[in-house]
Formats: sequence, C-alpha cells, structure tokens
Amino acid sequence: MRVVIFLILFISASFGDLDFNSQTRNFSVELFYHTLQGSDRDVAISPYTVWSLLISMAYETTGRTWEQFSKVFLLMEDRSKIVEEFRKLRTSVVVNKGANISLSNFLFYDEHLNVYSDSIRRLENDFSFIAQRLNFEAPQLAAHGASRTLHTHPAYLRPWMRLRTEDFVDATMIMYNCLSFTAQWSKPFNVSNTSPEYYRNGNAIGRENMMYMMNARVQYWKSESLHASFTRLPFGDDGRYCMLLVRPDSGEDIGRVLERLREASLWDILNRMRGVAVVLGQGEVDVKLPRFAITSKIILNTPLFNMGLSDVFDPNFADFNNFAEDKIYVGEITQRVTVDITELGTTVRTTIPAVYELETPMPAKQTPVKEPFFFFITEQSSATVLFGGIYSKINLY
Ligand SMILES: *[C@@H]1O[C@H](CO)[C@@H](O)[C@H](O)[C@H]1NC(C)=O
Ligand SMILES: *[C@@H]1O[C@H](CO)[C@@H](O)[C@H](O)[C@H]1NC(C)=O
Ligand SMILES: *[C@@H]1O[C@H](CO)[C@@H](O)[C@H](O)[C@H]1NC(C)=O
Repeated sequence: MRVVIFLILFISASFGDLDFNSQTRNFSVELFYHTLQGSDRDVAISPYTVWSLLISMAYETTGRTWEQFSKVFLLMEDRSKIVEEFRKLRTSVVVNKGANISLSNFLFYDEHLNVYSDSIRRLENDFSFIAQRLNFEAPQLAAHGASRTLHTHPAYLRPWMRLRTEDFVDATMIMYNCLSFTAQWSKPFNVSNTSPEYYRNGNAIGRENMMYMMNARVQYWKSESLHASFTRLPFGDDGRYCMLLVRPDSGEDIGRVLERLREASLWDILNRMRGVAVVLGQGEVDVKLPRFAITSKIILNTPLFNMGLSDVFDPNFADFNNFAEDKIYVGEITQRVTVDITELGTTVRTTIPAVYELETPMPAKQTPVKEPFFFFITEQSSATVLFGGIYSKINLY
C-alpha cells in the first residue's frame, strides 16, 4: 500500500494583489470556515502553508484529481505562471523585518518509490523543497536520517517538530513544512493594566487575563453589514505584519459573522480600514485582548474534502501520474499550531502532530467567553493570512 503523508507544522497564510492572490485569500477563509465546522474547540490554522503544499503538488496530478485541484484553487493550465506568482507571493510574505519569520519545506521519500526524477527537481527548484531519499523499510533509521536533515535547518525548533519512527511505517513519502513567527507589537500593552476576569459555571471557575490599552490609536472599523468590528494591531516598527481582530457585535453569533466573512474579502476589509484611517485619522479605541496561548492539532482531510478535494485522499482515484510511476495518495494532512499572545507580542509555532495525541482529546470542561473573536495574522502588502484562529471558550477548573 502506497501512502503519502503530509505532516504540516507551523503555518502561515498569504495573499496578494492578483487574481491568484485573491484566490489564496478566499482559500484561507474557506479552510478556516470548514475547519471550524468540524470542531467544538477553539482552533488555529495556517492556511498559507496548507495552500502552498497543495499548490506544489497540484501540477503533479492529472485527470480528475487535477480538475478538482484546479477548481478549488482556480489554477491555470500554465504551470510556469503559477510558479512565478507563487514565488512572488512568498517573497513578499516571508520578510525578516519587523518580525522573525521562517518557513521551510522538506520532502522525505522512500528509495523504493518510483518517482520521476524531474518531479523531485521541480519541487526543489520551483517550491524550495529540501528533498531527501530514505529507506522507509527501516523506519527507525529513516526517522534518524530525517531528523538530522531537519536539525541543520534554522526553522527547526526542537523538540516539538520531531518525526517519529511510526510516521515512516506504511508511508512512502512525507512532506513536512514548518513556519515560525515571532513579533512584538508596535505598541505593547502595559503589563500593569492586565487584570483577571473570572467565569463561573457551577462550582467550576475559569479565568482570563485581560490586557488593556486605553485610547489606543489604531485602525478600527465597525461594519454594519458584517455585524462586526475590526481592529488592526500592527507588529514591529513598520507594521508589515499585523493582527486583525474581528469581534461580533454584541448578541451576534460568531459563526454567522464567519459566514458573512466568507462572502467578503479580508483584502477589501484591510483596505477599507486603511482608507478610514487616512480620512478620519486612527481611531481612539479601548483595546481589550486576553493574554492566552492555544495549541491546535487538526486533521484537515475532511475540511479539504468538503471544499472539493476528494480524489487526492482516495487510494483508488488519486492520480499523481506526473509525479510517480507507483500509485500514491495522500493519507493524512495534519497541522499543529501554537499561538502565544502576551503584552509584548505574539509567537506562533507548530509542532509535528502525533496521531495518538490527536486521538485523545483533552478532557477539560469549557465555557463560552462573553466576548469571542477571530484573529488573523496577516502580511499587509499582500493581505496574506499567515495564521487564523478563534477565541471563544475557556477551560474551567
Ligand atoms: C529576532 O531575532 C533576533 C536575533 O535572533 C533577536 O535579536 C530579536 O530580538 C528577535 N526579535 C523578536 C521580535 O523576537
Ligand atoms: C503602565 O501603567 C502604570 C500604572 O497605570 C504606569 O505607572 C506606567 O507608567 C505605565 N507604563 C508605561 C510604559 O506606560
Ligand atoms: C470563495 O470561494 C467560495 C467557494 O469556492 C465561493 O463560494 C465564494 O463565493 C468565494 N468568495 C469570494 C468572496 O470570492
């Protein structure tokens, strides 16, 4: 049995100015929407990483599998054009200025897999993969070999991102992507203003540490039609990256706000906010944001299936005829994202999801918070969504 496993760590998301990029934006919100449909917990995802891995594989498929890819991602037949746009977007999204950001792609494949050598070269040259051929029939050695390669890379954050021996059993290929993002707020929160807020549910008590910034001069926009308000908190000196907070109006269901966001575009919203700031100046608003950390581990097969990618997961129908002589299919696309928000800034990291961790949910009891919100970390010039998440529940103890 031939299986391709994508292990996706650390993600970011991206957007740009052309049709190509607006489709990426749309994909980000769609993926976020479909991921939330299947989850009763708060989640964070990085659509850009998922998107970039899938785009890099799309042109390796033919037949109906390709048709599904081209429909979901609105791909053109001309691969070189996509590669050009892809690289342009990546250059504008991953900039080590105002934030520390690193993104890398690895490809580990079994030496018994009959891949076309030009397909590996395509992934290396066009999509910057670091490829390594390993003997998956000796999974322990393969895992060691892969770890050595990962360790040489600056983006590799031990020990979270370790590939395990089990990951190499039954697999013939592992695509591995990691993204880390660390940035300080342009205007940090004052630690002495942070205060706890308590939630009671029977005997259980939950606590949020709420950070405050009074009369902050930030871009703020309240949308009547979306029934939500938008606050932009920039990072670094130049504000190239920012966190966009989306809060439903009071009494408004957060799920319905997300449904409306699907019909809107984050690019338009960010432009709108910039326009309002130019005309009226930055708003003087009170910003309230909990200090929190979440870890999100998600299997993305179902959300992607619901978006229209079905054949790629099917051993009988997946068609990677441009890539390998052997029949392969995607076994699993999993992603782990950790987000840490403090008075000083934000760190987003991912780890390799371990399957047994994914199967044993944490038993913590949760209660809804009074003021739930979405957060999107975006790159300004392209409106790329590096990360998106929801904050709506807290644990009770
Ligand atoms: C980014 O990395 C540099 C060098 O490691 C470090 O000095 C700087 O403080 C980091 N910036 C942030 C925002 O973490
Ligand atoms: C933070 O808040 C405290 C108490 O309100 C104040 O004394 C202090 O000057 C503030 N610090 C900054 C950096 O604004
Ligand atoms: C985003 O894509 C979905 C599905 O492809 C489509 O239904 C929706 O209208 C698109 N939204 C925008 C704003 O383009």
